[in-house]
Amino acid sequence: MGVLDKKITVLAGDGIGPEVCNEAIKVLKAVAERWGHTFTFDNQLMGACAIDATGNPLPDETLTACINADAILLGAIGDPKYDNDPSAKVRPEQGLLKLRKSLGLFANIRPVTAYPLLLEHSPLKNERISGADMLFYRELTGGIYFGEKGRTADGAYDHCTYTRAEIERITHLAFQSATTRRNKLMLVDKANVLETSRLWREVVKEIAPQYSSVTVDYLFVDNAAMQLILNPKQFDVILTENMFGDILSDEASVIAGSLGLLPSASVGEKTAVFEPIHGSFPQAAGKGIANPIATILSAAMLLEHFGLNEEANVVKEAVQKALEQGVLTPELNAKNPSTTEQVGSFISRFVKEGVEAL
Ligand code: IPM
Ligand code: MN
Repeated sequence: MGVLDKKITVLAGDGIGPEVCNEAIKVLKAVAERWGHTFTFDNQLMGACAIDATGNPLPDETLTACINADAILLGAIGDPKYDNDPSAKVRPEQGLLKLRKSLGLFANIRPVTAYPLLLEHSPLKNERISGADMLFYRELTGGIYFGEKGRTADGAYDHCTYTRAEIERITHLAFQSATTRRNKLMLVDKANVLETSRLWREVVKEIAPQYSSVTVDYLFVDNAAMQLILNPKQFDVILTENMFGDILSDEASVIAGSLGLLPSASVGEKTAVFEPIHGSFPQAAGKGIANPIATILSAAMLLEHFGLNEEANVVKEAVQKALEQGVLTPELNAKNPSTTEQVGSFISRFVKEGVEAL
C-alpha cells in the first residue's frame, strides 16, 4: 500500500465525544507521520451541539462534508436534557439516524473480544468468557427504527419492515466475514412471532449454499440474550436486525470488561463511519476520565477500511501495550489511573516510535 492522502470528517458530538475523538486523532496523526500519509481532519457539528448552534441535529453543511469525505470519525451524541423529555420535537439521535440513512450505512460491524488482561473486570466468570471472540453484523437502516411511526387517538405505533434486498446485502457481508474467521454464522431473530424475522430466515437460508464452508445456526433473540452470558464462546459472526443488534451488542460489551473498549464500523453505499459503541456519558464530560480506547480502536478499523492493515495492527498492538502496562482510565485501573489524554498520548507515542518509546 502506497502513501495515501485522505480526508476524514470528524463528528465529535456531545459529552465525552470531543475528548475521545481528540485522542483518536492524535493516534491517526502519529500513523500519518510514521508512514508518510496525509490525513486532513474536518470538524463538523452533529447531535445536541448542532441543535444548540443551528437548531438542526444534522446541518446540511455537515452532511455535505460527510458525503465528500473518505471516512468519518464519530465520537458520541446525546444529551440528558432530551432523554427525559418525550415531547421534544428535535433530538440529537435524529441527526445520527439521518446520517445513517443518508449515507446508506446498512451494516454496523461490532467486534467483541474478551481481553485476557481484563477478565477480572467483567462481572462474568472468567472461564466462561475467556477466549470469547465474536463479530456482530447489525442491520442499521431498516426495521423498527425507520418504519412508519406515529400516534393514534389513544396510542402509538412503530412499524417494523424489511425488504428482501435490505436483508440480502448485509447477509452477504456477514457470510463473507465468516469465511475469514471461524466459518460460523448465527442469525438472531424472533421468527416464532415476527413476520419480518421469518423473511430474514428465508433469505439467509437461500443465500447459505453460496457459502458452503460456513455453518449457519438460528437463535431466537430471547434465547440469544441468555446464551451470550451463559456461553459466549459459541458465537463467531452474529447477524441480526437493527433493534436486536442494538440491544445485544450492548449486552455483549460486558464480556469485554468495559463498554469503553468497543469500536464499530458502519459501512454501506457512501462514506463509512467509525465510532465507539458507547454513548456520550455526559456525567464524565470534561473530567479526563473517559476511556479513549474504543474510539482509538475505531480509528484502527478506519485504517483497515483504507487498506492500511499494517498501520491498524500497530495501533492495536499499542492498545495492547496500554492494557499490559495498566495505562488505563479509572474504570479499568482504579489504583493508578491515567487520564483520557495520557492514555491517548501513550498509545500515539508507541505508534509513532515503536517499542523503543516505552
Ligand atoms: C447505537 C446507539 C444509537 C442506536 C442511538 C444513539 C440512536 O444506541 O449506536 O447503538 O440506537 O442505534
Ligand atoms: Mn446502542
